[in-house]
Amino acid sequence: MRILRRRGWELPERMATPEVFVLGRRTALAGAGSIALAGGAHADAQRNAKYAPGRAITDEKYATTYNNYYEFDEGKDLWRAAQALKQRPWSISLEGMVKQPRTLDIDDLMKQVQLEERVYRHRCVEAWAMTVPWTGFPLSQLLSIAEPLGSAKYVVFETAQDPKMPGLSSPFYPWPYIEGLAIDEAANDLAFISTGMYGKALPPQDGGPIRLTVPWKYGFKSGKASVKISFTDKRPVNFWQALQPSEYGFWANVNPDVAHPRWSQARERLLGSNEMVPTQIYNGYGEFVASLYTDRKSEKLFM
Ligand code: MTE
Repeated sequence: MRILRRRGWELPERMATPEVFVLGRRTALAGAGSIALAGGAHADAQRNAKYAPGRAITDEKYATTYNNYYEFDEGKDLWRAAQALKQRPWSISLEGMVKQPRTLDIDDLMKQVQLEERVYRHRCVEAWAMTVPWTGFPLSQLLSIAEPLGSAKYVVFETAQDPKMPGLSSPFYPWPYIEGLAIDEAANDLAFISTGMYGKALPPQDGGPIRLTVPWKYGFKSGKASVKISFTDKRPVNFWQALQPSEYGFWANVNPDVAHPRWSQARERLLGSNEMVPTQIYNGYGEFVASLYTDRKSEKLFM
């Protein structure tokens, strides 16, 4: 075991629930049809109503002040420190098994995609959850831009390593933060690249300016602040898996019946109200993603 000290998500539930997280929810916007919001590229994004979350949207103040971002801190209160991460200029390199490796400026990339808003449930392996209106574009659009070779089987996201990130000085962690998806998962319409939330640009603490969002998997799959997206035929070892392979795997699909080795995944705590609710398999998105796994039943799909 390489775990030498307690990580954030090993905190007992009572300690992981700061008292400031008292009741406070924004009323969910009407679910049916697309809603045009006013002002700015993110605010103008139309809501895609296909994936109605069935829950109230979490108040923005919780989603933007209770974060996991180990490059900044092992605790949750890192949003102030994260403001130091400059959001522009920002470029993303497309590498590995692609037709033509290249580097894209984020603003050029955003001109090539159609921004939309999606309200997704977001479930951390630590058993807290929120419901977030992300803006961005389906990852499948980025695949079309990247043009991976037919032989590529996985896509790998690498997070920035910036001198303003104090956590990087800890040799305990296997930096950089890496996450990956199988190509067919990445091509699924639910897999999303977020560049905004709550109708605004994505704040640095939530992974701004650009992050992966994979709502049917535990939150750790959603790597923040992407600077490199590479394509490979070798299954990547993600950050948490590299740190603790007995506890974290590649697939990490949400499943209430498969406990983490040290705690149950049966229920989750909604940020804001602290209400405990049952967790759903694939975080409730099974109708859209379960078929990805019918031929992978022999794999460890749920951690
Ligand atoms: N990405 C990076 N680069 N570093 C991290 O520590 N934490 C992950 C994921 N992406 C993490 C990361 C975990 S454990 C979760 S639950 C989500 O980010 C949290 O996203 P949020 O802070 O926007 O809610």
